[in-house]
Amino acid sequence: MNAALNQQWWRDAVVYQIYPRSFADSNDDGEGDLAGITSRIDYLRKLGIDAVWLNPCYLSPMRDGGYDVADYRRIDPRFGSEADFDAFVNACHSAGIRVIMDIVPNHCSSEHVWFREALSSPAGSEPWRRFHCVRGRGDGGHEPPNQWQSVFSGPAWTELSNADGTASGWWYLHLFDPSQPDLNWDCDDVRAEFDDIIRHWFDRGVDGLRIDVATGMVKAPGYPEPDDSWPHPHWDQDGVHDIFRRWRSIADEYDDRVLVAEAILGFPDRLARYLRPDELHMAFNFSSLTSPWDATSFVDAITWPLFHNDSIGAPTTWLLENHDIARVVSRFSGAPLRQPEENITILDHVPARALTDAELERGTARSRAALLMSLALPGSFYLYAGGELGLPEVLEIADDYRDDPVWHRTAGGTTGRDGCRVPLPWTEDGATFGFNVGEKTWLPQPAWWGRWSVERQELDAHSCLAFTRAAIAARHAVRFVGSTTDVTAHDGVLTFTRDTADAVRVRCTVNMGENAVPLPAGEVIIASTPVADALPPDVCVWTYT
Ligand code: GLC
Repeated sequence: MNAALNQQWWRDAVVYQIYPRSFADSNDDGEGDLAGITSRIDYLRKLGIDAVWLNPCYLSPMRDGGYDVADYRRIDPRFGSEADFDAFVNACHSAGIRVIMDIVPNHCSSEHVWFREALSSPAGSEPWRRFHCVRGRGDGGHEPPNQWQSVFSGPAWTELSNADGTASGWWYLHLFDPSQPDLNWDCDDVRAEFDDIIRHWFDRGVDGLRIDVATGMVKAPGYPEPDDSWPHPHWDQDGVHDIFRRWRSIADEYDDRVLVAEAILGFPDRLARYLRPDELHMAFNFSSLTSPWDATSFVDAITWPLFHNDSIGAPTTWLLENHDIARVVSRFSGAPLRQPEENITILDHVPARALTDAELERGTARSRAALLMSLALPGSFYLYAGGELGLPEVLEIADDYRDDPVWHRTAGGTTGRDGCRVPLPWTEDGATFGFNVGEKTWLPQPAWWGRWSVERQELDAHSCLAFTRAAIAARHAVRFVGSTTDVTAHDGVLTFTRDTADAVRVRCTVNMGENAVPLPAGEVIIASTPVADALPPDVCVWTYT
């Protein structure tokens, strides 16, 4: 890798993901907001992160946590004013933190002006060309055009009604909720509109965009049924790459702006195609997020993405959790996980029951070890807010509060993602643990939440928070360079080495096995749990070789 490439901030950035509804609430309405985040800039600065990624805060009826956008250029008043947004970006920039926003191009909200216009026009007419509006099968067209399933379960098509309320025999496509109609990317209007939206946010100083459902935007002509071949008729179609080339040329009109793909693909070679030099800058490597706590499995989850991305000079992007999957502490606890219903492709992995104390301890140790390992890997790392506190998944959310469309569409058959979106605990006590100074939160916080609070962890030198800050600081201090080709597993122990800018090598060793092993030779830089003369199970250590 040449020196100029190394200077590109995004290649090895630590990015902190903020779910705005759940971070900090400045006006006591129970939902987090931009002014709340701005008031915590110092907290972000102390974490040592390079950027934040903000989940959607656009005008939205919030049927899917803001991934149902009614106006792509407006901030939803629940998150504050346009001025609050600009103040947030300025505060981040003053603290040396860049800002990545979400962009949701696969679908809009059914409240978007385009969909309203379509709904008030006859099915199949001109305003419908911006969506996928297709004649149904069977007598009168009352059967869906094909068998495609929504990611949130059930058919991916909804039949439209005529003005008199009778079924029209025409259907529109929604790969997610019916309130999220898929946009038709064969339509020039759609392409031009998003070019403009991207420029709008870059002009407002945003440093990057995370592209929601990046693999889904183009559908195979004729809407065929999936077969065993690849690409799938609505995932990973070649046509998406034309769109991303176009977007890359827009990003390149500006300095240092980045595009990050949410591309859930089981095949690292296919993922690397999104990272070709004229396409996107980053794409999440979801294999590291779904790997079980097993050294051999992690070797695969690390080696193959690195191999394919390195071969085209692209960085690899790591994460352990996000707003769509159960907290890593719970996933790695060893507790049995609920299996999502058949046909649900959404990541879930929620524990089937409350964790025992031993499971919680194990999950916490593994989460810390996985974090330290991830910070040693070549590429960027995304830390989901609350991960630095070691928050476990909240299981005890009463049905009435559940908000995730997945829960509703499966009638509770799939737990959904609310348990990783519970408003953060800032203080040990208080009605909302310092999330606001009021009484309510949009999702209920459990009684035990204060034990995980920032306030309590700041007093404890061994807390998850103190460890996360130290680990990120160690990554900056060590100054890793280049990639790695020696990731191996032996007897449950995963290890690899990295070069540093100071011409010394660092070894990262994670004991994912059952037994303690000898500590690797060399000075210890940092360990995920204090170590003496052995490396116990569930601990990661960096040593100088
Ligand atoms: C992505 C988002 C998820 C959302 C879905 C539909 O997977 O991360 O939260 O529900 O897209 O937009």
